[in-house]
Parts: sequence; C-alpha cells; structure tokens
Amino acid sequence: MTARLIDGNALARQTRAELAPRVAALAARGQQPALAVILVGDDPASQVYVKHKVADCEGVGMRSILDRLPADLPEAALLARIEALNADPAVHGILVQLPLPAHIDANKVIATIAPGKDVDGFHLANAGALMVGQRGFRPCTPYGCMRMLQAAGVEPRGRHAVVVGRSNIVGKPMAMLLLQANATVTICHSATPDLAAFTRQADILVAAVGRRNTITADMVKPGAAVIDVGMNRNEAGRLCGDVDFDAVREVAGWITPVPGGVGPMTRAMLLVNTLEAAEAAAAHAAPAAG
Ligand code: GUN
Repeated sequence: MTARLIDGNALARQTRAELAPRVAALAARGQQPALAVILVGDDPASQVYVKHKVADCEGVGMRSILDRLPADLPEAALLARIEALNADPAVHGILVQLPLPAHIDANKVIATIAPGKDVDGFHLANAGALMVGQRGFRPCTPYGCMRMLQAAGVEPRGRHAVVVGRSNIVGKPMAMLLLQANATVTICHSATPDLAAFTRQADILVAAVGRRNTITADMVKPGAAVIDVGMNRNEAGRLCGDVDFDAVREVAGWITPVPGGVGPMTRAMLLVNTLEAAEAAAAHAAPAAG
C-alpha cells in the first residue's frame, strides 16, 4: 500500500487562512502584528528563506521589517540593532536568520532577543520552557511537524517516536514536543551504531539529518508516519529530503514530501508565533475591560 501524503502546502495554506482574521482584528485596533527579520551577509539560501518570510507576512496582513546588514557588521552593532527592536512596541517578533558570519557569536545574538519576541523559540528561556512544559515559543520546524502529525490523525501518545538528528533547531525540540505529547522518544545521531535497528521500531520517524537517502525503505516500519525535515539537493540539483521518498512511500503509512512538506509548515508556524506575540502584547497593553 502506498503511504498517504501529508501535504504541507495545503496545511500551511489552511493555517494562514485561519490566522488572517486574527491579524485583521489586531490591525483594526492599530496593533498590526509585525515581524523584524535580520539577514547578515549574502548567503544565497538565507536570502531566499528571508524573502519567503517577508512575503508570507504580507500575505496574511502582517507588517515585516527586513534588515539586510553587511557580512562584516561588527557583532556589537547587531546586538545594538536587536536591542532597538526589543524596545520598539510596534515590533512583535524578531528573527535573526542563521547561520551568521563566523565573527558573530550566534548564542550571544539569540540571548539578546527579548524572549517575548523570540518567535524562532531559540532563546534559552523558550528552550527551557519547552523542556519543563511551560508556555513559550516553540521552534517553528518541530512545531510544524507536530501540526502535520495532528492533521494526519497520528496520535503520538503511546507510540515510539524516533528522531534522527539532535540539532538545537530541530532534533532536540522535536524530541521534547513528542515527549510532551506522550510518545516514547528515541534520539539518534551521528554516533548511533546501527541506526536502522532504531528506525525500524519507529511508529513516528522524524529525519532531520541534512543528508539525502539517510532513510531507506528497509529502515522503515510498515505503516509508520515519516516526517522528512531534510533540505538537500540531488545530483540533478533538485530539492530533496533525507528520506528515499519513492521507496519509503511504498512502506510507510504517512509521509511528508520535499518540497511541499515541512518547509511550508515551518514558515506558517513563524506566522503563528508572531501573531501570538502580537496578541500577547495587545492584551498586555490594553487589558479587556471588566
Ligand atoms: N536558518 C535555518 N533555519 C532557520 C530557522 O528556523 N530560523 C532562523 N532564524 N534561521 C534559520
């Protein structure tokens, strides 16, 4: 049986459609949600990502502020720019596109973003909140993956979820979200011996490695939900994930394509986080009467 496709484009479209009236309601009160996106340098992939993020904001009626800064920008100047955005009540979300040039300490940059505006969910306060199950911004990619599982009707409770990859942006927060949803979670990584022995146990398999064909059909349990976070190029230059899609779709129960899977949902969840930041700011600025 061929796996059912979890369509990230369709789900992202639906997510944006649900946001638009909430954005309009804030805008009508003079509190249009606003996202500041900072790009340092001219990494071509980052330029594309940033362009999409700005266009997405416009698509749902949010304001975006794009700061393109030179690759040789001193770290102190970047931190000062973030401080200014922290202090600006008309800005609700701040995103600094990663990777940053080598002379800039990304940890320092992330620590400078006000946690309430950290719509990437990378600040230690948000990472810690996720760890202990408190409210906070969730990193957009794993948050989007959880939405995709939910949309597919895949309930993590009681299932074995295997996450391949342990990055701070995807693997670790993904594992925490699955754990919070009562899955039994295994995290595999580059030092895991016999990866296939783990992935074959997965009812939910998340591949976030960054190397194509990492997950082949023989590594997948029949009927599993396979979420492909990879963003790679094949030898023909075409975008592909970490999963051998054509073969794995004959084994899995659900599968996300690349492109058209996790990518669009990551972008949609950035809008969700930004809207929530704006709604929280509005509630703080003007508590409901009575
Ligand atoms: N670079 C690659 N993915 C991301 C992301 O989710 N957020 C930011 N800020 N930079 C990235």
